[in-house]
Amino acid sequence: MAKLTDMVDMEIQGGVAVIAIDNPPVNALSAGVRTGLYEGVTQAVADDAVKAILIYCKGRTYIAGADIKEFGQPPSGTPLGDVIKTIENAPKPVISAIHGTALGGGLETALSCHFRVAVDSAKFGLPEVKLGLLPGAGGTQRLPRVVGVEKALKMMTSGDPVGADFALETGLIDEIVDDLVEGGLAFANKVVSEGRPLVKVRDSNEKLEEAKKDPELFNNFRKSIARKTRGFKAPEAIIQCVEDALTKSFDDGIKGERERFMGLMSGEQSAAQRYYFFAERQANKIPNLPKDLDQITVNKVGIIGAGTMGGGIAMNFLNAGIPVTITEPTQEPIDRGLGVVRKNYERTQKGGRITAQDVEDRMGRLSTTTNIEDLADCDMIIEAVYENMEIKKKVFAQLDSFMKEGAILASNTSYLDINEIASATKRPEWVIGLHFFSPANVMRLLEVVRGDKTSEKVLSSSMAIAKRIGKVAAVSGVCHGFIGNRMLAQRGVQSQKMVFEGPMPWDVDRVIFDFGMPMGPFAMSDLAGLDIGWDKESSKGETVRDVLCEMDRRGQKTGAGYYNYDPKTRQKSPEPKVEEIILEFSEKMGKTRRDFSDQEILERATYPMINEGAKILEEGISYRPSDIDVVWVNGYGWPVYRGGPMHYADSIGLDKVCARLKEFQEQDGDDFWKPAALIEKLVAEGKGFKDM
Ligand code: 3HC
Repeated sequence: MAKLTDMVDMEIQGGVAVIAIDNPPVNALSAGVRTGLYEGVTQAVADDAVKAILIYCKGRTYIAGADIKEFGQPPSGTPLGDVIKTIENAPKPVISAIHGTALGGGLETALSCHFRVAVDSAKFGLPEVKLGLLPGAGGTQRLPRVVGVEKALKMMTSGDPVGADFALETGLIDEIVDDLVEGGLAFANKVVSEGRPLVKVRDSNEKLEEAKKDPELFNNFRKSIARKTRGFKAPEAIIQCVEDALTKSFDDGIKGERERFMGLMSGEQSAAQRYYFFAERQANKIPNLPKDLDQITVNKVGIIGAGTMGGGIAMNFLNAGIPVTITEPTQEPIDRGLGVVRKNYERTQKGGRITAQDVEDRMGRLSTTTNIEDLADCDMIIEAVYENMEIKKKVFAQLDSFMKEGAILASNTSYLDINEIASATKRPEWVIGLHFFSPANVMRLLEVVRGDKTSEKVLSSSMAIAKRIGKVAAVSGVCHGFIGNRMLAQRGVQSQKMVFEGPMPWDVDRVIFDFGMPMGPFAMSDLAGLDIGWDKESSKGETVRDVLCEMDRRGQKTGAGYYNYDPKTRQKSPEPKVEEIILEFSEKMGKTRRDFSDQEILERATYPMINEGAKILEEGISYRPSDIDVVWVNGYGWPVYRGGPMHYADSIGLDKVCARLKEFQEQDGDDFWKPAALIEKLVAEGKGFKDM
């Protein structure tokens, strides 16, 4: 066996040069891999004894893409383009044998081979769009030639991988094999013995010709993804590359791809999205954990409460194959809750994402009881009852009396003090907050709230279970509203204040929407319901909200709130009466109204969040700034191409944010705007959050 680099070796087995890549954890295309591949293929081509070349990876996966850590670093090793050309132009068959995930530059490398085989669990994708990029090693030109234009557009603009069956059907792979190396070798020998012509994807134009028959293909595709990709630059660049594939030569297509790739790579969006990629992975890591800490195995989960939240939480575990028992004191809410879960699954089945059998399997893992003590042997209990401290404490005291030792006792509270909840038990070290976001079966974020006494074992096991059920978890300490809602409250305060001084709710909402959030604060209030925490009996019209609720404008559910909602389309439109009410309040408060620029609205809405984020860091509520960004991107739809509020502050310049906070403080005469001590300190040191 010849070692080509420290990441790649080669062995000749019966006339086949077997090139093995070994670059854990995901066999990224680091310099050593690229150089090794180039050397291996070049040597194998020159060796007369070699009849075919087989490329495979050791470890858990085929090449999962370019090495993202190398982006922005000075170039080293053989460029990927040269590797790909060398493979494609090899005069002997080159075959990739694929397992795990062939992603990004990995799939592009595989597409430069003449043949591809894979085990049936393998996945294939071009996820560059998730990093604000496009496939930059020929993927935009080769994939449409293999799977067809529309399918390729879908794969590249969503970044989502496809399975081996799809790959076989579309020609992305030639064969499914049982054993990676044995199967790959057998296939290579077959190709040689049959004298099969080498397939160069670059020369296959049939699927492009087919696509040319539909002149509306690109327009329709653009429309179909417009809502999902609003604000993102990479999807449009990908579409343009594919348009090139239909209208230009392969080499010119590659040229266009390279130019657009470089443009995206040097832009702010990709920088934010690459930062975010690592932020999400970092968020799962708890600092200073003992290495030998053992984990609690969660094989059975109990959920208290069959409402929207309880049912949604249950679905996460059922989807991951973990049995769940839901409890309520009476049967009626259980039946209702079960009905909702089933309906949700059936809707997913109609959308084609799961089969009828999957629905039955998942429902089969769900049991119910009206006797809470039946949950005694669960490994984890999640309480999802009404958000009230006394009720929660009662539930935890009861759990403490019968739950088996070693079970995680979790609360789904979104605001309340986990320490106080834990104090109702004699085992506070087993108590933790698991704040799922609504709808709990859809939203990816899980805020894991560590109480003062929560043990490291419970915390780390909760992070592991979060990963197992497909959530992105971030740890928060105890404070009112934890990371996300605490920061949201600050945006709320200023948004409410602004409308008495100048802009109307729809002006604020428009600016926030254009910034990239799914909706602004007033539309969000309408969605949540204006009457949360409002009491009809005691309401005295003291706030705009009181007045609206008194008029039965309680938000989307009553067809009107800050906005009017079309009963059919649910489209919102501003209501003159709301404007009148706001103007009356302004006058009563003695406010002089003035014009606000969109920039000022944006700053007044987002800078208080950044300031609060800094306080959250100061108090040790969050381990790191990037965890806060993970919360905001996944829990509230902060546009990932702006990285999250803390990354956004750094991208503006923390000194500029700090100066603006001081200007607002002076203008308003309000200490609300006083920059957090941490911001002052970082600015004085010439640093940003990224340097913490
Ligand atoms: N480069 C560098 N490091 C990478 C990496 C990559 N492409 N992909 C993953 N890693 C690192 C992660 O940061 C993590 O490091 P850590 O342990 O220090 O935190 C480790 O590998 C394991 O990653 P995950 O925790 O994500 O492991 P999973 O098993 O959950 O997922 C995966 C594996 C599906 C491969 C996932 O890591 C992934 O999606 N990776 C990114 C794939 C990607 O985006 N590829 C395209 C890159 S861009 C490109 O190829 C450009 C080309 O067109 C020219």
